[in-house]
Amino acid sequence: MAFANRVSRRSLLLAGGGAIAGVALRPRGLGAASGDLEKRFVAAPGQASLSGPSYPETAVWAYNGQTPGPQARLRQGGHLRIVVENQLPQDTTIHWHGLRVPNAMDGAPYVTQPPIQPNESFTYEFTVPDAGTYWYHPHAHSAEQVGRGLMGAFIVKEPEPLPVDRDLVWVLGDWRLETDGSIAGGFNNPMEISMSGRIGNTVTINGRVPDRFSVRSGERLRLRLINAAPARIFRLEFKRHQPLVIALDGQPVEPHPPEDGQVMLGPAMRADLVLDMTGKPGSSAAIVDTFYKGLSYKLVELAYTDEPPLRAKPLALPAKLPPNTMPEPDIANARRHDVTLTGGMMSGMGMGGGMGMMGGGMRGMMGGSAMWAMNGVAVPGGDMEQMKPILTLTRGKSYILAIDNQTAWHHPIHLHGHSFRVITRNGQPAKYREWLDTVLMPPRERCEIAFVADNPGDWMFHCHILDHQEGGMMSVIRVA
Ligand code: C2O
Ligand code: CU
Repeated sequence: MAFANRVSRRSLLLAGGGAIAGVALRPRGLGAASGDLEKRFVAAPGQASLSGPSYPETAVWAYNGQTPGPQARLRQGGHLRIVVENQLPQDTTIHWHGLRVPNAMDGAPYVTQPPIQPNESFTYEFTVPDAGTYWYHPHAHSAEQVGRGLMGAFIVKEPEPLPVDRDLVWVLGDWRLETDGSIAGGFNNPMEISMSGRIGNTVTINGRVPDRFSVRSGERLRLRLINAAPARIFRLEFKRHQPLVIALDGQPVEPHPPEDGQVMLGPAMRADLVLDMTGKPGSSAAIVDTFYKGLSYKLVELAYTDEPPLRAKPLALPAKLPPNTMPEPDIANARRHDVTLTGGMMSGMGMGGGMGMMGGGMRGMMGGSAMWAMNGVAVPGGDMEQMKPILTLTRGKSYILAIDNQTAWHHPIHLHGHSFRVITRNGQPAKYREWLDTVLMPPRERCEIAFVADNPGDWMFHCHILDHQEGGMMSVIRVA
């Protein structure tokens, strides 16, 4: 049986609200009553079999003993109450990535709440306004805590489920393992901070190195991809298959084939695909990740069973998902602000001299300065208490942020508490004007994003390559 099914059976879902004790696992898609969610998440050291039974287990940090943590699944408009208990050796929080929650529930340590100290707990409670594919992760010591396994999927169901044969969640993880299976130390090293971040050597789907994924000819899958890696960018090519993108970062988009047939996912980004299994019984096809030059690898093999095709004729194209509840920005009257990304190796600012400059850069880092900046402001991870907003926006007004990546590196830039439309890229109108919460900016790219600042509070605005975030590419935008 396919690993994703095993994982979904393992996940603890609560149908119907109320107490969680003794909850039976229910088949997906049933239970119209499964609207609310009430759970306890214990963040603690645990063990995971990432590579399968014939390899050593890995000491991880996990929620309720699982990595990814329990899948949160509720209906649009549903209410969630999760008590997070910290049994880690350091403080933590949980951020509900992409969900437009009240500021006090956002999980940004020092900015929206004091961090949860070891042996303490914190209750998150909010209503989910929008359907879609989201995820959760700590926002304290993020590079290490996510890198050790703390993250999980958060699925908000549409009122009418999209008609598919299987609705699958693939949480993509990336780990740096030693040969004995343990997680390599050396988090937040300045060399990696100033370059592409800590890329691992072991990629997992739902916490397991995948091999084959069993599919049936003729079936239609909804595949919810979540990049939960600390730094790795994916570009997935589906050999001999034509995925259709139906949502990005949880938000519906006009169904379309991905650019060049490849699905690009920076850290924290999600894509919902409709994938029709058009292969013959008994055949197979690979999903290959081609992002890093010279480092392509096969993520997983789609292996068709011998069963006869599920249906004779191919299905019609899927309909567009119903829109979510974000207010439409008024582009003509929007106020405009520039946001400039600087820093890193080979970029002309701070560490521009290449290797010769690096010693200085490292000393600078150790001395408390940072390697990256947003609008010239650099706040290394430990200094969240000092953080002052780089922008103050007026509640209810429309804004365009013109983001200019002046560095030689990719940056997935994430805004908390809001989704934004991508309006232009390098001066060209964006084809789908997609709603995102994290926009992947290639080196030297400029893009414009637009949104209504409708959610009051101080919101983190940062790069989601977690080493970059901790190395200064992090700021706060205030909606007042
Ligand atoms: Cu997914 Cu500020 O985070
Ligand atoms: Cu970055």
